Amino acid sequence: MLVHLLRAAGRRASQAAVLSRLAVPAARSFATDAAPKPSGGGGRGLALLLGTLGLGGGLYYAHQQGMLDGVFGAPPAQKEAVKRDYGAVRKAIADLLEADEYDDGSFGPILVRLAWHSSGSYDKATNSGGSNGATMRFSPESDYEANAGLKVARDLLEPVKAKFPWLTYADLYTLGGVVAVEEMGGPTIPWKEGRSDMDSGNACGPDGRLPDASLDQKHLRDIFYRMGFNDQEIVALSGAHALGRCHADRSGYVNPWTFAPTTFSNQYFTLLRDEKWSKKKWKGPLQYEDSSKQLMMLPTDMALIWDKKFKPYVMEYASDEEKFFKDFAAAFSKLLENGVPRTQGEAPAAASPAPAA
Ligand code: HEM
Repeated sequence: MLVHLLRAAGRRASQAAVLSRLAVPAARSFATDAAPKPSGGGGRGLALLLGTLGLGGGLYYAHQQGMLDGVFGAPPAQKEAVKRDYGAVRKAIADLLEADEYDDGSFGPILVRLAWHSSGSYDKATNSGGSNGATMRFSPESDYEANAGLKVARDLLEPVKAKFPWLTYADLYTLGGVVAVEEMGGPTIPWKEGRSDMDSGNACGPDGRLPDASLDQKHLRDIFYRMGFNDQEIVALSGAHALGRCHADRSGYVNPWTFAPTTFSNQYFTLLRDEKWSKKKWKGPLQYEDSSKQLMMLPTDMALIWDKKFKPYVMEYASDEEKFFKDFAAAFSKLLENGVPRTQGEAPAAASPAPAA
C-alpha cells in the first residue's frame, strides 16, 4: 500500500514538473547558484556532528535503495539483478502515462511520436540516422520544426533514465513508444535493447528527413521508401494517428484524428473510409474536418485514401483490426530497429518482457 502511495507520489512529481514547464516557461536555475551562507554561533560543533551523522545515515539509506548506483555502482549482490530489469523500466514508463491534466488524459501519444521521430531520420542508402544515438537530445535536431513539442516527452522520461542509469536514452525513447502502444490497448511490439547514445549533436542527421504533412503521396513515398518501407507499411504506420492530436503551437494544425485518441484502434481507417472529409475553413494551414468538425485529417492522411495503391490497405485495415494490429507491430518494430548496429547472427527483436508486477 505504502509502495503504491510512494509510487503515485513519485509519478505525480515528475508529471507536475513537465506540466508546470508546459504552463509557464520555467526560469532556468543553475546548480552553481550561490549557496546560503552558514550562520555562525553557539552549538556549532554539536550541529556539525549531528549534521554529519544525518548525512551519513541519508547516504547509507540512499545507497541501500540503489539511488546512488549511478555514482558508486550497485552493491555486488544487487548489481546483476538491477542492471537489466527491463520489466521494471517498462513499469516505470507505464506509471507515467496517465495524466488527467494533459491533453486527452495521457502522455502515451506523445511518447509514440517521440519513438517515431527519433527513428524516422533513418536513411537506408547511407545507413545513417535512426534511433541509435538518441541524437534528438541535441541541437540542431531538437530544434527541427518537425520535432516541435517533443521536449515534453523527453522531459517526461528523464526520471526513468535517472532511476535506471544503465539504460541508454536511445533504448528508452524507443521502449517508451512500445510501452505506450501496448498500454493504450495496441499490439505487442517486438523490441530489443542494445542502442547506444551519442554524446553530442555532431551525429545529428540533416533536417528534412521527416514527412511534411502539407504534401502528397509522392512525398510520403520519397520519405518512407528512403527508410526502406513499402506502401503497405506506410499505411500501417500511419494508423498510429488513431492516437493523439495536433497542437496549434507545435505543428500549426489542430484537433485529434479520432474520438478515442488515447486508445490504439483501427478507428483512423474506419473514419478515413466512412466520413465525408471537407476542407476546414480557417486561417490556419490546409487540413480536413469531419461532419462533426471535431476531428481532423492532414493532407498526407487524405493521400492514403486518394492514392489508388494506398487505398486498398486503408480499406483492409478498416475492416480487419486484427490484421492492422499485426502489420503495425511489424512495421513499428522495423522502424525502431532501422540503423541499429547488430552483430551478425544476433537474435532479432522479440516481444518485450512483461512489466514487473
Ligand atoms: C505519414 C506521415 C506523417 C505525418 C505527415 C505526420 C504528421 C504529424 C503531425 C503534423 C502531428 C501533430 C503534431 C502536433 O501538433 O503536436 C502528428 C502527431 C502524431 N503523430 Fe504523426 N505524422 C506521420 C506519421 C506518423 C507515424 C509513422 C507515427 C507513428 C508510427 C505517427 C504518430 C503520431 C502521433 C502518436 C501523434 C500525436 C502526438 C500527440 O498527441 O502529441 N505519425 N503527426
